[in-house]
Amino acid sequence: MNPIQIAIDGPASAGKSTIAKILATDLNFIYVDTGAMYRVVTLAAMREDLALQDEAAVTALLPNINISFKPGNPVQRVFLNNEEVTDEIRSVEVTANVSTVSAYAAVRQAMTDLQREIAAAGGVVMDGRDIGTTVLPNAAVKIFLIASVHERAVRRFKENQAKGMDTTLDDLEVAIEKRDYLDSHREISPLKKASDAVELDTTGLSIEEVVNKVKAIIETK
Ligand code: C5P
Repeated sequence: MNPIQIAIDGPASAGKSTIAKILATDLNFIYVDTGAMYRVVTLAAMREDLALQDEAAVTALLPNINISFKPGNPVQRVFLNNEEVTDEIRSVEVTANVSTVSAYAAVRQAMTDLQREIAAAGGVVMDGRDIGTTVLPNAAVKIFLIASVHERAVRRFKENQAKGMDTTLDDLEVAIEKRDYLDSHREISPLKKASDAVELDTTGLSIEEVVNKVKAIIETK
């Protein structure tokens, strides 16, 4: 397959990273988890004990934050200044604060620059909230994955249980709705379906069914 850009956007826990990873492996493309990048910046700010509402203080940290990835199984490994933070960036606390940090202009600019730099290397599958609209507006394939809030919370609940994380389904539903609201109502690059993206509702579908549907869309391009 020619090295094309595939953008996969959608709300929290819609299955974007699961699908994107499988596609990248099958196509031998680079996989970029852009949510992980915003999570790393959030973790770095939390470790400094910054008031996360203080945009100037958070953005002043950016020059000291180096984000990198290494292949890993089942998840890609994520590093903050060479320290592995793969698990820490998925904590309930980072998840609860990431939408505040990701709304800041300088944070978005720095992450967008890094994402475009990585994408320039060749075929790429990138997942996030603004890939089709902002980061890779010329991507050959744009998918907007959605699923009901309940189903997304159930999926996250099962993932958390498998990791030994103690969360309730009700709390997860509330957290997911709040994050979607903040992500889709921020001023810069809000979560939004690109006008040329194909929307796919994954409610009730297995991972394999979603992958096959996305591959069918890729084949039409
Ligand atoms: O995809 P994930 O749930 O890990 O993303 C974490 C958060 O990072 C999102 O809730 C959003 O605030 C932010 N994000 C973003 N733009 C992206 C990817 C993620 O603002 N492209």
